[in-house]
Amino acid sequence: MTRRRRIYEGKAKVLYEGPEPGTLIAHFKDDATAFNAQKRAVFEGKGVLNNRISEYIFMRLGEIGVPTHFIKRINMREQLIRQVEIIPLEVVVRNVAAGSLSTRLGLEDGVQLPRSIIEFYYKADALNDPLVSEEHITAFGWATPQEIDEVMQLALRINDFLVGLFLGIGIRLVDFKVEFGRLYDEEGQMRIVLADEISPDCCRLWDIASSEKLDKDRFRKDLGGVLEAYQEVARRLGVLTETRPPKGAGPVLVATNPTGKPN
Ligand code: TMP
Repeated sequence: MTRRRRIYEGKAKVLYEGPEPGTLIAHFKDDATAFNAQKRAVFEGKGVLNNRISEYIFMRLGEIGVPTHFIKRINMREQLIRQVEIIPLEVVVRNVAAGSLSTRLGLEDGVQLPRSIIEFYYKADALNDPLVSEEHITAFGWATPQEIDEVMQLALRINDFLVGLFLGIGIRLVDFKVEFGRLYDEEGQMRIVLADEISPDCCRLWDIASSEKLDKDRFRKDLGGVLEAYQEVARRLGVLTETRPPKGAGPVLVATNPTGKPN
């Protein structure tokens, strides 16, 4: 195999130069970090699962018209993506109180929020990704007001779609984090597209029947069974190759929300 140029290494992924200009290869690692990398571990096979899960979700989102950086999966751990200029914001959408929101506002974990809430965190490891407002974002030029509007609209569309997708497989989508990038076409026109990944690393996913956590909180809170939880999400989405082929295998319906209320 020819040596590829490494463009960037993050906590969970490495980005390599792609085969064509304007493309990159995203390599999903088995490394897990939490609390700004103060806690670290390796879960053998996590990268493979996240590659598959993220591929599936990005493809489904693409089908409903959400523009993404995803082009195609290349192998077990890698996908071909479009190179974008990442907007330096972690965009968090919350449906249910949990994590830092519960801590910050003194809410009880698991309480349904009055409506979906979007939060922005400035991507800066040295500052521990601080919560910021639209005022900070526009004043410091991280994104324009128009870009913020577009990002918020996309984030809510993604949330609506994912809430339904996960509900259909017996999972409550508590919250998730996404990132967006600017994609320029040949004429220099810019489009905002969904970038990075959507996987149990960056979502809170609770099993509806048992309330069991099926996401990275298992690692953050030392609950054990991290890989098993990710496998369960992949299995329910129908993307585990051991059990069924990845193409054409839709979500496996296992339960509906017993309350009948939207998540
Ligand atoms: P939080 O409650 O810790 O703020 O997390 C909100 C959501 O964002 C949760 O689904 C986990 C995800 N997340 C990341 O993907 N990366 C991060 O660095 C943090 C802090 C949270």
